[in-house]
Amino acid sequence: MSLLNAQQLERVSHAVQDLTPAQLAWVGGYLSGLSLGGNNVIPFPQALQVSAPGQQHGISTTILYGSQTGNSKNIARKLEQELKAAGTTVSIKSLRDYRPQQLKKEQRILVVISTHGNGEPPDDARAFFQFIHSHRAPGLEGLEFAVLALGDSSYEEFCQTGRELDLRLEQLGASRWLARIDCDVDFGEDAAGWRQQVLEKAGRDTPQAGGNAILFNQPVSGSTVQQEQALGTQEAPYAAELLALTPVTDAASDKEVLHAEFSLAGSGIRYQPGDILALQVRNDSALVDAILSHTGLDGETAVTLKGKTFTLRTALQERLEITSLTRKQYENFTGSSDGYQADADWLDVLEQHPKALDAQTLVELLRPLKAREYSIASSLEAHPEEVHLLVKRVDYPHNRRRHLGAGSNWLARLQTGDSARIHIKPNERFKLPADDQTRIIMIGAGTGVAPFRSFIAEREARDVQGGSWLFFGEQHFRTDFLYQSEWLQYLQSGALERMSVAFSRDQPEKIYVQQRLLEQAAAVWDWLQQGAHVYVCGDMHKMAKDVHQALTQIITQQGGRTPEQAEAQLEQWISAGRYQRDVY
Ligand SMILES: Cc1cc2nc3c(=O)[nH]c(=O)nc-3n(C[C@H](O)[C@H](O)[C@H](O)COP(=O)(O)OP(=O)(O)OC[C@H]3O[C@@H](n4cnc5c(N)ncnc54)[C@H](O)[C@@H]3O)c2cc1C
Ligand SMILES: NC(=O)c1ccc[n+]([C@@H]2O[C@H](COP(=O)([O-])OP(=O)(O)OC[C@H]3O[C@@H](n4cnc5c(N)ncnc54)[C@H](OP(=O)(O)O)[C@@H]3O)[C@@H](O)[C@H]2O)c1
Ligand SMILES: Cc1cc2nc3c(=O)[nH]c(=O)nc-3n(C[C@H](O)[C@H](O)[C@H](O)COP(=O)(O)O)c2cc1C
Repeated sequence: MSLLNAQQLERVSHAVQDLTPAQLAWVGGYLSGLSLGGNNVIPFPQALQVSAPGQQHGISTTILYGSQTGNSKNIARKLEQELKAAGTTVSIKSLRDYRPQQLKKEQRILVVISTHGNGEPPDDARAFFQFIHSHRAPGLEGLEFAVLALGDSSYEEFCQTGRELDLRLEQLGASRWLARIDCDVDFGEDAAGWRQQVLEKAGRDTPQAGGNAILFNQPVSGSTVQQEQALGTQEAPYAAELLALTPVTDAASDKEVLHAEFSLAGSGIRYQPGDILALQVRNDSALVDAILSHTGLDGETAVTLKGKTFTLRTALQERLEITSLTRKQYENFTGSSDGYQADADWLDVLEQHPKALDAQTLVELLRPLKAREYSIASSLEAHPEEVHLLVKRVDYPHNRRRHLGAGSNWLARLQTGDSARIHIKPNERFKLPADDQTRIIMIGAGTGVAPFRSFIAEREARDVQGGSWLFFGEQHFRTDFLYQSEWLQYLQSGALERMSVAFSRDQPEKIYVQQRLLEQAAAVWDWLQQGAHVYVCGDMHKMAKDVHQALTQIITQQGGRTPEQAEAQLEQWISAGRYQRDVY
């Protein structure tokens, strides 16, 4: 059933029938502003008092962003366009390019920043963070600031970087212009609300621009925004056809890793080696049935999520996370975080803590289903109009029941010819060197090897010879040597110069990639001396930390530095983009 009656629908259609696409986009923004801002939104005619381009006034504002996968950057850019259109004097910078000494000279900064690692700043913001936490950080009396923090509440340190920054700026004497907002994975509405607040408050400071000029979602032209739309978005993803899905592990392996190929033919979608593909997935109907059966709820009951109505079954299958829950959700549901288990799903928790629940209460306990992200394993140069992934199917026993990861098993159930809703997430911080002659050292364990297939395929397609060294780790040589025949071909063709492998379970003691690095410390150091870039992909919790430690050791031993100097060298390489990590 439509939310509008027939007359209302007709009036709306009539009102917009002769608008251009740009005007329609403006009206869309205006209406969402109305729905968010209520009576804070100014009357329509006043909102049209747009300043002439270049005519800017009021307090000078700098938008800063710290972003790993582009979300914060996109929000920051939208805000920049909106503030400019509203007549505010505004500039925008990535924290990567921003000299923190400049803070002293600013009037107002608006920071959009995500959290990565385990509560760490995005790589681009690390040097900035170090500076503001050092004794060199200046007093910032006279500076106004506002922070929009992006994060994911499934991580224990939710929005930690934004929180730390908000606190630190206050400690340094700056005054909070707006309260910080912490956004979860479905950040669209919260971020829009924050932009709206900024525009309203900035409008009050900018009398020349029409009193309280609020130009929420002012349509913006320019190649960046058009390019973002062409890539597809979470709201408007591209339906890509599955061309192939094959296991790359042997049937005798302890794990199942799949190689998937999707068609991008005719879509115009472009990506670079190192970028990420986001897939919109669904939960397994068997798990949905089990939850309905356990709670005794009827799947046809209507529930409301963010103002939209769904059946309970659709909400559980397509909209909400049921395969995992956060400590906080567990605590809210059971009254204590004691007994929380990261491997449990909602069926476990509902079974272990039986409660009478109605359908709406149940859906309000759950987090929105997030798109699953995968490192792209192909190169458009080598695989035109296609995108490939390397995906481990998550399947583990817990509580005497098989637990299947939602996304990886949804993918595993697809048939060729089916389509998947996808969008590309540019990953600027995981890119081949600009100069093909720069050497690269790639360290990937398990599915972490995926982006290196894209790197080497791209280099081969560009006729780049040598200068590449891959460290790969998996459990067994016989069953788990992912893309073995391709690596051998690349070694033969010269696109890959060296390969070192660590099969952890082929001998009594574990052997991991970092041991191979240490065994070849002199050669690794030599490559580093020649300016090699270092890439690490795969497990964030253990592998990436141990590899970092091994690199520190190599710099210490081979380069004759102290551990502190080695650590500082690695930090400097991170900031300079010479040491890049894509870990999860
Ligand atoms: C930037 C980025 C790049 C990534 N690239 C890849 C890639 O190239 N290939 C790839 O396979 N994955 C990759 N991942 C991980 C991927 O996004 C999913 O998290 C993974 O596929 C599990 O999702 P799921 O929906 O199947 O499991 P979920 O339904 O999300 O997980 C259910 C439960 O399974 C457990 N679990 C989750 N992941 C794993 C795992 N990998 N092994 C064992 N248990 C697990 C957890 O306890 C979790 O609570 C990447 C993640 C990020 C952030
Ligand atoms: N519960 C979870 O959330 C969970 C569990 C596992 C993996 N993951 C994620 O899934 C991703 C991919 O999994 P995957 O199966 O493809 O790869 P993986 O689990 O990272 O395994 C790949 C190889 O890395 C080895 N390894 C284990 N610990 C290591 C360490 N400290 N340093 C270096 N190598 C190490 C493994 O050895 P051994 O297996 O023999 O020790 C194996 O040989 C990982 O990046 C991780 O983030 C999540
Ligand atoms: C590998 C990885 C680690 C993350 N760690 C955290 C974390 O510790 N805390 C958090 O709140 N969010 C974490 N996130 C979620 C991101 O902050 C979130 O996806 C955000 O929207 C990314 O914004 P960006 O694209 O601007 O970097 C992590 C995401 C990834 C991919």
